[in-house]
Amino acid sequence: VATRIKYWEPDLDESSLDLSPLMNRRSPLDQCTMFEKEFAKFIGTEYAVAVGSGSAAIHLSLVACNVGPGDEVVTVPNTCTAVSDAILWAGATPVFIDIQEKDFNMDPDRLEEAITKRTKAILPVHMYGQPADLDPICEVGEKHGLIVIEDVAQSAGALYKGKRAGSAGTTGCFSFSGKNLSVLGLGGMITTNVAKIDETLRMLRHFGRRDGSSYQEVLGYRYGMSELHAMIGRRQLSKLDERNLKRREIAGMYSRTLQNSNEVVLPVEMDYARHVYCHYVVRAKRRDDLRSYLLQSGIETSCHYPIPIHTQKVYASRFGFEEGAYPITEKVAREVVSLPTRPNLRECQVETIARRILEFYASHNQ
Ligand SMILES: Cc1ncc(COP(=O)(O)O)c(C=O)c1O
Repeated sequence: VATRIKYWEPDLDESSLDLSPLMNRRSPLDQCTMFEKEFAKFIGTEYAVAVGSGSAAIHLSLVACNVGPGDEVVTVPNTCTAVSDAILWAGATPVFIDIQEKDFNMDPDRLEEAITKRTKAILPVHMYGQPADLDPICEVGEKHGLIVIEDVAQSAGALYKGKRAGSAGTTGCFSFSGKNLSVLGLGGMITTNVAKIDETLRMLRHFGRRDGSSYQEVLGYRYGMSELHAMIGRRQLSKLDERNLKRREIAGMYSRTLQNSNEVVLPVEMDYARHVYCHYVVRAKRRDDLRSYLLQSGIETSCHYPIPIHTQKVYASRFGFEEGAYPITEKVAREVVSLPTRPNLRECQVETIARRILEFYASHNQ
């Protein structure tokens, strides 16, 4: 019996499970502090603040930037509800704009028409491992005096014009849960170059107090990262570039085998971007049948995301969105399928997956 090809599985060597750094700490936050320093250096920002999840990273970024009731945040509807939920929990209103079909990312040409007197922030999401076109987005932000919060959950290590995603915005928000940098649990990070925001974020995540102080300065949360996850995160970070390279090689193998298919549209790497393929997302005809066929052959795939945010019940009922509001997002939501790119896949497994896809269409086209 062929072994099942899983979409995701932990990529850990034995040394990653050595807990001695946790037992020999000099301070209670040793691992978090070192992870933050190493992460800021890796991304190329002055500061990084470790938090408990990507959702917490977005929520705290908004609160630290004073985004709240009465404010609007422009973002995309083809992503995880964590993004728009965080905007709502901050008390603000998400305003969606449609994406570019070619790269699944925010369409900068649609930004101006979404901006009103209430707009406070733009929140581009770097989908699947590829940065959105940040220069025109930041230009519009600057013109209107808006902050830019980058969602880098799926794109740790990706480059935009040679710079790491997460270094251009007021903050960059990362998730380490089942992503290309994974801490085997929940985790997140916020990057910034603004000292005041770094200072505020540190208080917000820790009961509203400065580390070591009992005095509460602001209304706070309990949003920090555990030392255990920080320790694993540091080890994963040291291998991130190497593993992202492996993901790119896997993407190249899929693209070579599938390039002549009429049924599958392959992902495109934009000329300004270096994609890290957290997810290798194709647009496929008869997507759901294809996924079932692959699963019957023991191949797990995933789908990011089959239900656009504006058509989720919470949003449709709250804002009265109807189908057709964001046609490109709705179209790709019916077609996208994510193929495994975990770096511990074997070459023959990647070949098998690609060949099974061709087989599906060959046998279902008669
Ligand atoms: C684009 C995006 N942003 C934010 C999040 C939220 O991250 P977390 O699950 O760590 O809260 C996710 C989670 O999958 C995501 O895909």
